[in-house]
Amino acid sequence: MLRFDKVTKTFGGNTAVDAASFTVDKPMMIGIIGRSGAGKSTLLRMLNRLTDASSGVISFDGLDVTALRGAAKRSWQSQCAMIFQQFNLVPRMDVVSNVLHGTLNRRSTVSTMFNLYPDEDIHRAINILERLGIAEHAPKRAEALSGGQQQRVAIARALMQDPRIILADEPIASLDPMNAQVVMQSLRDIHEQDGRTVIANLHTLDTARRYCDRVIGMRDGRIVFDGLPEHLTTATAREIYGADASFSEATTSTQIETTDPAPRVLADVAAQ
Ligand SMILES: Nc1ncnc2c1ncn2[C@@H]1O[C@H](COP(=O)(O)OP(=O)(O)OP(=O)(O)O)[C@@H](O)[C@H]1O
Ligand SMILES: [Mg+2]
Repeated sequence: MLRFDKVTKTFGGNTAVDAASFTVDKPMMIGIIGRSGAGKSTLLRMLNRLTDASSGVISFDGLDVTALRGAAKRSWQSQCAMIFQQFNLVPRMDVVSNVLHGTLNRRSTVSTMFNLYPDEDIHRAINILERLGIAEHAPKRAEALSGGQQQRVAIARALMQDPRIILADEPIASLDPMNAQVVMQSLRDIHEQDGRTVIANLHTLDTARRYCDRVIGMRDGRIVFDGLPEHLTTATAREIYGADASFSEATTSTQIETTDPAPRVLADVAAQ
């Protein structure tokens, strides 16, 4: 069980996350929504200890995550893999090596320096790429892939760590709608098939509604909604986004019908 207990983060006089409390008592797919600056990234970064909380406690299965140091902290970070909007791959390195980087935390310096990977890890990496529908790209440089394919490589790298939790900070914000759907579906499948918890910061309401079991809405650092997607009414959304009368779902939507994807992308998705 994952538990946030009055977790607060301040930067100088600015409270980025304000006494956030919630529990996750079984594997779920959770979407965190809120406008820019609401504290979504800070919340995720505190969970995998990229940022230290100013006060409060985060615990997982009884372990006080906020108190971990050194090797214990690194071990937690590999159980709690993070993917980012900009993929954070090594662009000139081939796809399979990028995925194998997910094993870095448990390899010696020498094997890392000489890029020596056990056969077993290479097979696992290929299997994960296959699962994500991109094994054919394994020998290519990461930079040669489309954004959606690169994000799937980043997911594969996260899976190499065999994490309990996958954190995704705006995983589809740089993608066109078709690739966004493929990436969200991949995260959904990973949650359903592997029983991993996925927590994703999402800019759009419709994505949270479509893929998540639970939605957490943040406003000005505070959790102002925590519930089922079907309880996320337009009125609640207004409260989360602090929107005035001009609020419109369309402005927070990635509905595929509203866009005109490039032919390259259509071919890419059709190939899967
Ligand atoms: N390293 C930092 N130093 C100072 N202030 C920060 C830092 N990181 C975040 N903040 C501030 O904390 C608040 C929350 O930021 P955060 O990045 O968590 O928001 P967000 O909900 O992820 O926004 P976005 O949707 O734009 O990514 C903002 O006011 C931001 O300026
Ligand atoms: Mg953010």
